[in-house]
Amino acid sequence: TLTTTRAMSNPQVQAIAGPLTSTATFLVLTVQPGGEAAVADVLGSVSDLSKNVAIRDAGAGLSVTVGIGARVWDAVTGLSRPSELHEFKELRGATHTAPSTPGDLLFHIRAERRDLVYEFERILLDKLGAAVTVEDETTGFRYFDARDLLGFIDGTANPIGQALDASVIIAEEDDAHAARGSYVTTQKYLHNLKSWGKLKTEDQEAVIGRTKIDNVELADQADADQKPHKQLATIVDENGVEHDILRDNMPFGAPGKGEYGTYFIGYSRRLWVTEEMLRRMFIGVPEGKHDRILDFSTAVTGSVFFVPCAEVLDSIGS
Ligand code: HEM
Repeated sequence: TLTTTRAMSNPQVQAIAGPLTSTATFLVLTVQPGGEAAVADVLGSVSDLSKNVAIRDAGAGLSVTVGIGARVWDAVTGLSRPSELHEFKELRGATHTAPSTPGDLLFHIRAERRDLVYEFERILLDKLGAAVTVEDETTGFRYFDARDLLGFIDGTANPIGQALDASVIIAEEDDAHAARGSYVTTQKYLHNLKSWGKLKTEDQEAVIGRTKIDNVELADQADADQKPHKQLATIVDENGVEHDILRDNMPFGAPGKGEYGTYFIGYSRRLWVTEEMLRRMFIGVPEGKHDRILDFSTAVTGSVFFVPCAEVLDSIGS
């Protein structure tokens, strides 16, 4: 298994639902032509590699979640493709675009200690060697009471308990080959904090749909010209059933470089749910009325991966 208490309670699942830690690295790689077999061998041993590092401070809760993209799925895993797995589809709204960028492998590395995350990543990249190219490496941190850099608490509406598994983990009846896995979507956003800072707090709250200091949900305004983020990201199907995803977003930043961002990461049992959220945010509801969070946040990457259960991950390669 891939460590952490959560994985221990259900060894069949990668540590997707591990707790939000104080630090995490999001590493996105592409596989070089001819590198597939070498990558497969390393993926099959990620579980052992992470144990080697995790044991050095068991209390720091190192966990590693591995996602594999559509472009390399067949060649790297040799397994049938999860039914919804495809590359990130670019979304072009009237005002904002969600780009689709290269990414064959995702490593979501979490711990309470930055050194463990660093150490695992160092050993991993050493093993992968020339078989991969690094497309993006972002290290995030917890910002006070789990706030994003816009100043709002992020992650409140995440599903918990049984609802968590129901939203995130694929069931046998959905897709037998993909059972106990999950789809994961990532997007790296850069914020324009100067212009965000010019908005009055009440206006910022109307963009998000929650109060800033105490994180209370605002009532939906039927006559609002542009709906708040909270409402655009709420998906209700034709039967009135709400569909959630699990977000483990993290802030990242380098004030010396003027860089302030949110790394969005959304795990979902059904990829269409995350895609529908993105469509509502970028294309808008009604069309043209986009999510105003995007007026202050630019998506610079966009990728989709499949996270197989730990048992399947361990079986990849030799
Ligand atoms: C809610 C921030 C992008 C999906 C929220 C909340 C904040 C937030 C502050 C309210 C608190 C909470 O429930 O977590 C951000 C920021 C983003 C971003 C800063 C990037 C710049 C996205 C994207 C998606 C998404 C790309 C989906 C594709 C959601 C969902 C909710 C939510 C599902 C909960 C809605 C509800 O049921 O109340 N986000 N978000 N967010 N966000 Fe985002």
